[in-house]
Amino acid sequence: MPRITELHVNGDKRRIDANAERSLLSVLRDDLNLTGTKYGCGEGQCGACTVLIDGQARRSCLTSMGAIAGRQIQTIEGLESQGRLHPLQEAFLEVGALQCGYCTAGMIMSGVALLSKNPNPSPAEILRFMEGNICRCGTYSRIVSAIQRAARSKSGQAPSTQRMQPDPADNQSHEVSQAGGSSRG
Ligand code: FES
Ligand code: FES
Repeated sequence: MPRITELHVNGDKRRIDANAERSLLSVLRDDLNLTGTKYGCGEGQCGACTVLIDGQARRSCLTSMGAIAGRQIQTIEGLESQGRLHPLQEAFLEVGALQCGYCTAGMIMSGVALLSKNPNPSPAEILRFMEGNICRCGTYSRIVSAIQRAARSKSGQAPSTQRMQPDPADNQSHEVSQAGGSSRG
Protein backbone atom coordinates (compact mmCIF):
# COMPACT_ATOMS: atom_id res chain seq x y z
CA MET A 1 0.00 0.00 0.00
CA PRO A 2 1.58 3.36 -1.03
CA ARG A 3 2.48 5.74 1.77
CA ILE A 4 2.26 9.52 1.68
CA THR A 5 5.08 11.17 3.58
CA GLU A 6 4.52 14.90 3.26
CA LEU A 7 1.67 17.36 3.02
CA HIS A 8 1.75 21.02 2.00
CA VAL A 9 -0.61 22.69 4.45
CA ASN A 10 -1.03 26.33 5.43
CA GLY A 11 2.23 27.27 3.76
CA ASP A 12 4.31 24.59 5.48
CA LYS A 13 5.61 21.23 4.33
CA ARG A 14 4.60 18.76 7.07
CA ARG A 15 6.08 15.30 7.51
CA ILE A 16 3.46 12.58 7.77
CA ASP A 17 3.20 8.83 7.31
CA ALA A 18 -0.22 8.03 5.93
CA ASN A 19 -1.81 5.33 3.85
CA ALA A 20 -2.70 6.82 0.43
CA GLU A 21 -6.32 5.76 0.92
CA ARG A 22 -6.80 7.69 4.16
CA SER A 23 -8.91 10.82 3.99
CA LEU A 24 -7.34 14.25 4.13
CA LEU A 25 -9.73 15.08 6.97
CA SER A 26 -8.40 12.22 9.08
CA VAL A 27 -4.78 13.24 8.53
CA LEU A 28 -5.47 16.91 9.27
CA ARG A 29 -7.28 16.17 12.52
CA ASP A 30 -5.62 13.03 13.84
CA ASP A 31 -2.03 13.38 12.62
CA LEU A 32 -1.52 17.15 12.40
CA ASN A 33 -3.91 18.23 15.18
CA LEU A 34 -5.60 20.74 12.84
CA THR A 35 -8.96 20.21 14.49
CA GLY A 36 -10.64 23.38 13.21
CA THR A 37 -11.77 21.31 10.22
CA LYS A 38 -14.78 19.31 11.39
CA TYR A 39 -16.16 15.83 10.76
CA GLY A 40 -19.88 16.11 10.12
CA CYS A 41 -21.39 13.45 7.86
CA GLY A 42 -18.28 11.87 6.38
CA GLU A 43 -20.19 11.51 3.09
CA GLY A 44 -19.74 14.85 1.33
CA GLN A 45 -23.18 16.06 2.31
CA CYS A 46 -22.67 18.73 5.00
CA GLY A 47 -19.59 20.82 4.16
CA ALA A 48 -18.23 20.87 7.74
CA CYS A 49 -14.94 19.42 6.50
CA THR A 50 -14.38 21.97 3.71
CA VAL A 51 -10.79 23.05 3.07
CA LEU A 52 -9.11 24.76 0.15
CA ILE A 53 -7.07 22.62 -2.24
CA ASP A 54 -5.11 24.86 -4.59
CA GLY A 55 -7.65 27.56 -3.72
CA GLN A 56 -10.74 25.47 -4.51
CA ALA A 57 -13.26 24.50 -1.83
CA ARG A 58 -13.16 20.73 -1.40
CA ARG A 59 -14.64 18.18 1.01
CA SER A 60 -11.70 16.78 2.94
CA CYS A 61 -13.74 13.77 4.12
CA LEU A 62 -13.96 12.55 0.50
CA THR A 63 -10.41 13.51 -0.51
CA SER A 64 -7.89 10.71 -0.34
CA MET A 65 -4.30 11.46 0.53
CA GLY A 66 -3.22 9.78 -2.69
CA ALA A 67 -5.14 12.34 -4.73
CA ILE A 68 -3.44 15.45 -3.41
CA ALA A 69 0.28 14.87 -3.83
CA GLY A 70 1.98 18.24 -4.30
CA ARG A 71 -1.24 20.22 -3.89
CA GLN A 72 -1.50 23.21 -1.53
CA ILE A 73 -3.96 22.69 1.32
CA GLN A 74 -5.37 25.55 3.37
CA THR A 75 -7.41 25.06 6.52
CA ILE A 76 -9.16 27.46 8.84
CA GLU A 77 -5.99 27.63 10.94
CA GLY A 78 -4.11 29.02 7.95
CA LEU A 79 -6.40 31.96 7.21
CA GLU A 80 -5.02 34.42 9.74
CA SER A 81 -2.06 36.45 8.59
CA GLN A 82 0.48 38.18 10.83
CA GLY A 83 -1.80 37.79 13.82
CA ARG A 84 -4.88 39.17 12.06
CA LEU A 85 -7.97 37.17 11.24
CA HIS A 86 -9.08 36.91 7.63
CA PRO A 87 -11.71 39.57 6.76
CA LEU A 88 -14.35 36.86 6.49
CA GLN A 89 -13.51 35.54 9.98
CA GLU A 90 -13.82 39.11 11.26
CA ALA A 91 -17.15 39.49 9.48
CA PHE A 92 -18.52 36.27 11.01
CA LEU A 93 -17.69 37.65 14.45
CA GLU A 94 -19.07 41.10 13.66
CA VAL A 95 -22.47 39.84 12.56
CA GLY A 96 -22.61 36.86 14.92
CA ALA A 97 -22.91 34.40 12.05
CA LEU A 98 -22.63 31.32 14.26
CA GLN A 99 -24.22 29.63 17.21
CA CYS A 100 -22.70 26.24 18.06
CA GLY A 101 -19.90 26.91 15.56
CA TYR A 102 -19.69 23.37 14.24
CA CYS A 103 -20.33 24.35 10.63
CA THR A 104 -18.37 27.59 10.81
CA ALA A 105 -14.93 26.53 9.61
CA GLY A 106 -16.45 24.88 6.56
CA MET A 107 -18.70 27.87 5.91
CA ILE A 108 -15.77 30.26 6.12
CA MET A 109 -13.56 28.17 3.83
CA SER A 110 -16.35 27.95 1.25
CA GLY A 111 -16.94 31.69 1.62
CA VAL A 112 -13.26 32.42 1.07
CA ALA A 113 -13.33 30.31 -2.11
CA LEU A 114 -16.42 32.19 -3.29
CA LEU A 115 -14.92 35.63 -2.65
CA SER A 116 -11.74 34.68 -4.49
CA LYS A 117 -13.84 33.87 -7.59
CA ASN A 118 -16.49 36.54 -7.15
CA PRO A 119 -15.43 39.51 -5.00
CA ASN A 120 -18.92 41.00 -4.84
CA PRO A 121 -21.49 38.19 -4.85
CA SER A 122 -25.21 38.84 -4.67
CA PRO A 123 -27.26 37.08 -1.97
CA ALA A 124 -28.54 34.66 -4.61
CA GLU A 125 -25.00 33.90 -5.75
CA ILE A 126 -23.91 33.32 -2.15
CA LEU A 127 -26.80 30.95 -1.49
CA ARG A 128 -26.12 29.04 -4.69
CA PHE A 129 -22.40 28.66 -3.98
CA MET A 130 -22.90 27.73 -0.33
CA GLU A 131 -25.82 25.35 -0.78
CA GLY A 132 -23.66 22.31 0.04
CA ASN A 133 -22.76 23.73 3.47
CA ILE A 134 -25.33 22.83 6.10
CA CYS A 135 -25.94 24.81 9.31
CA ARG A 136 -28.08 22.89 11.77
CA CYS A 137 -28.51 26.07 13.84
CA GLY A 138 -30.05 27.89 10.89
CA THR A 139 -27.77 30.93 10.81
CA TYR A 140 -27.96 31.22 7.04
CA SER A 141 -29.15 34.83 6.85
CA ARG A 142 -26.28 36.00 9.04
CA ILE A 143 -23.78 33.92 7.06
CA VAL A 144 -24.94 35.69 3.89
CA SER A 145 -24.59 39.03 5.72
CA ALA A 146 -21.06 38.13 6.84
CA ILE A 147 -19.96 37.25 3.33
CA GLN A 148 -21.39 40.49 1.98
CA ARG A 149 -19.71 42.42 4.79
CA ALA A 150 -16.35 40.83 4.01
CA ALA A 151 -16.86 41.62 0.34
CA ARG A 152 -17.49 45.28 1.21
CA SER A 153 -14.44 45.47 3.45
CA LYS A 154 -12.22 43.88 0.80
CA SER A 155 -13.49 46.35 -1.79
CA GLY A 156 -12.55 49.27 0.47
CA GLN A 157 -16.04 50.22 1.62
CA ALA A 158 -15.65 50.64 5.35
CA PRO A 159 -18.28 48.56 7.17
CA SER A 160 -20.03 49.79 10.27
CA THR A 161 -18.22 48.83 13.46
CA GLN A 162 -21.52 48.14 15.22
CA ARG A 163 -22.20 44.48 15.84
CA MET A 164 -25.36 43.07 14.35
CA GLN A 165 -28.04 42.47 16.94
CA PRO A 166 -28.96 38.83 17.61
CA ASP A 167 -31.77 37.50 15.48
CA PRO A 168 -34.94 37.59 17.64
CA ALA A 169 -35.68 34.08 16.43
CA ASP A 170 -32.56 32.85 18.16
CA ASN A 171 -32.33 32.29 21.88
CA GLN A 172 -28.81 30.98 22.01
CA SER A 173 -25.63 32.83 22.90
CA HIS A 174 -23.38 34.09 20.14
CA GLU A 175 -20.32 34.25 22.37
CA VAL A 176 -17.29 32.88 20.59
CA SER A 177 -13.60 33.24 21.05
CA GLN A 178 -12.53 32.86 17.45
CA ALA A 179 -14.66 32.38 14.37
CA GLY A 180 -14.48 28.79 13.31
CA GLY A 181 -11.11 27.84 14.72
CA SER A 182 -11.60 27.46 18.41
CA SER A 183 -13.95 24.61 19.15
CA ARG A 184 -12.60 21.09 19.23
CA GLY A 185 -14.80 18.20 18.37
S1 FES B 1 -17.93 15.73 6.87
FE1 FES B 1 -17.33 16.07 4.81
S2 FES B 1 -19.11 16.82 3.83
FE2 FES B 1 -19.81 16.27 5.85
S1 FES C 1 -24.32 24.17 12.82
FE1 FES C 1 -24.35 25.41 14.63
S2 FES C 1 -23.71 27.37 13.88
FE2 FES C 1 -24.00 26.15 12.07
